Amino acid sequence: MPWRRPRKRVERGGLVRSSPEERIEEAAEDDEASDAVELAALEGASLDEVALGEPTGTAESSLALPLAQALKGVDLPSETTATPKARRARAPRPEIAARPTSRYPIGSLAIDDVDLRVRIGSLELRNPVMPASGCFGWGLDYAELFDPALLGAIVTKGTTPKKRPGNPQYRIAETPSGILNSIGLENPGAEGVARSYAKQWRDIGAPVIVNVAGYSIEDYVFVVRTLADVPGVAAFELNISCPNVDGGMLFGTDPLLAAQVTEAVKAETDLPVIVKLTPNAPDVVAVAMAIESAGADALTCINTMLGMRIDVRRRRPILGTRSGGLSGPAVRPIAVHLTYQVAQRVSIPIIGAGGVTSTEDALEFLMAGASAVQIGTATFADPLAPVRCLEGLAAHVRDARLASIREVIGVALPPKPSSEPDTEYRAE
Ligand SMILES: Cc1cc2nc3c(=O)[nH]c(=O)nc-3n(C[C@H](O)[C@H](O)[C@H](O)COP(=O)(O)O)c2cc1C
Repeated sequence: MPWRRPRKRVERGGLVRSSPEERIEEAAEDDEASDAVELAALEGASLDEVALGEPTGTAESSLALPLAQALKGVDLPSETTATPKARRARAPRPEIAARPTSRYPIGSLAIDDVDLRVRIGSLELRNPVMPASGCFGWGLDYAELFDPALLGAIVTKGTTPKKRPGNPQYRIAETPSGILNSIGLENPGAEGVARSYAKQWRDIGAPVIVNVAGYSIEDYVFVVRTLADVPGVAAFELNISCPNVDGGMLFGTDPLLAAQVTEAVKAETDLPVIVKLTPNAPDVVAVAMAIESAGADALTCINTMLGMRIDVRRRRPILGTRSGGLSGPAVRPIAVHLTYQVAQRVSIPIIGAGGVTSTEDALEFLMAGASAVQIGTATFADPLAPVRCLEGLAAHVRDARLASIREVIGVALPPKPSSEPDTEYRAE
């Protein structure tokens, strides 16, 4: 089976403990399945097959294979019959011209003739496209493919005060039009992040937005205090989708808790503070308004939605944490809806996120009131999705003869103040 690799057995002395990965795998009930985990996606299995350790009979993953191929710089076949090996043997795709002098493969795009600048609080971005947290590593993971300085900003993986190993396997399961993840904020901790990435961020050429996570207000404040003076760090994005330890409630589901954490972080730094909304809140608009009143500079709308998949053969949830966060195109209509709702009730800028895969998707968010967009899950299928989207937005400005991309922001919103009858659909 193509996704299976024989595991190397290492002889160890009695006192040497096995690695966390080995311990997790040893705990797995099914040895057959545990042997199939490593690098399986790059061998042509679907993500489900990776998770389940066996063929599901479905086509190869729409996410894993393109990622493997794009990372190897080969073209994607239109037919589905080619083997992964045959696909990897194809020529590099010539679609986006590379500037040979750049230290990155894609050093310039046809975007300089149009005005794509947008403002997020005091931060002026050269364009509205940025990666979503957790899908772009620490900023340079995709630099083999394109210059990160092309993007409006870089958004880092969630950073907690202390190093976190992340959740037990399995951490990803494929879903219709998306994925479920339960990565669990794996990161080296605020000081580790500063030590490892400060030098790179200083020269990265794009503002770095540090995504911050924690389980208490003090956690958020600690991370911000630790990283505020790191060169390159231009703003913080608070991931408030974590449970607060006291009440076990997600910070982002309660307007009061969301406001408290925002206020505490604002008191700690002069850099812009962006707060990321969770769609799992009963009243997302109320949370957004509380966050604005607490002094936030901008909002990101949205984080992942809670979801679950069951392995019917084993009769238990696929993910190690049982539930995980749903992302990708499956959540896009929800994210656009929430962006549209929130944009009508706050005046701070919104960064739209949730299922953006193309220029058209990005335009939906901008027209719904977002000033910028984040691209997350789509980059796993096509690591060049952000630069393709950027070129598409530039083409839109050019073709529609707009003075700038800013003319698109909020054009689909109802006129303010509205004297028309409220005809908007609401589910009862
Ligand atoms: C693998 C993975 C890891 C993520 N890690 C984080 C994180 O560390 N912090 C955070 O705020 N959001 C995280 N997210 C959520 C994304 O930043 C984004 O809000 C969400 O996935 C919706 O966008 P998308 O559909 O374009 O992926 C993660 C999402 C994925 C898929």
